[in-house]
Amino acid sequence: MATESDSSRELTFEIFRFNPLDPGSEPRMQTYTLREEPYMTLFRALNRIREEQDPGLQFDFACRSAVCGSCGMMINGRPTLACKTLTSDLASTIRLHPLPAFKLIGDLSVDTGTWFREMGSRVEAWVHERQAFDPEAIEEPMDDDLAVAIYESDRCIECGCCVASCGVANTRGDFLAPAGMNRVARFMMDPRDGRSTGDWFEVVASDEGVFGCIGLMACQDVCPKELPLLEVYGYLRRRALGAAFVRKQR
Ligand code: SF4
Ligand code: FES
Repeated sequence: MATESDSSRELTFEIFRFNPLDPGSEPRMQTYTLREEPYMTLFRALNRIREEQDPGLQFDFACRSAVCGSCGMMINGRPTLACKTLTSDLASTIRLHPLPAFKLIGDLSVDTGTWFREMGSRVEAWVHERQAFDPEAIEEPMDDDLAVAIYESDRCIECGCCVASCGVANTRGDFLAPAGMNRVARFMMDPRDGRSTGDWFEVVASDEGVFGCIGLMACQDVCPKELPLLEVYGYLRRRALGAAFVRKQR
């Protein structure tokens, strides 16, 4: 009698291999095969390959539930979270590469942390308080819709998929990229932040900021948290143009 495992597919994984720390390592694709399991995610598949076939294979995972942002990789050419991807949604041959635009650690593992840390310090991603905190003062209420919009921006998990999908970010390292724009918008919207429109103009109104975007629009398509990144660009462009108009009036 045929069992479920008899009828399951044999998957072929073509995985990018390269260790930049090993002078003898050459970039190459390596092929592995694996019998598909019901509800198998790429997290499960890669762990099985590492446990059963190749203990040296490098890739990153932490939460396994689309929360930590560490498992972004190119899955058949598209930046996606591996822990959120079911093998049943893919053809039986699966090609995996590391996310471009980030420093390669090895194989499928990239250093998104340094990129996000540098971006955060460039845009000073913290609330610049209007006034010194007074623990005795009554808490100031925030408009519900505004609080929701800020919360929405804060849902970014720093996976880097939007950066990897961005043609501009892949060709110039100083571009703030969609994740950077989203971070700027989050603090620009925040009424507790005392930075003026002119201050923000310096941060985003350039080719490194909103005017560097050439409108390929892949970022919003690939964001696993479905953040409205195109709306973010629109919001920042309107604010930047408003600031330019104020400057001209002076
Ligand atoms: Fe990932 Fe979306 Fe944040 Fe970009 S905006 S880093 S795709 S969660
Ligand atoms: Fe955390 Fe995939 S393992 S987002």
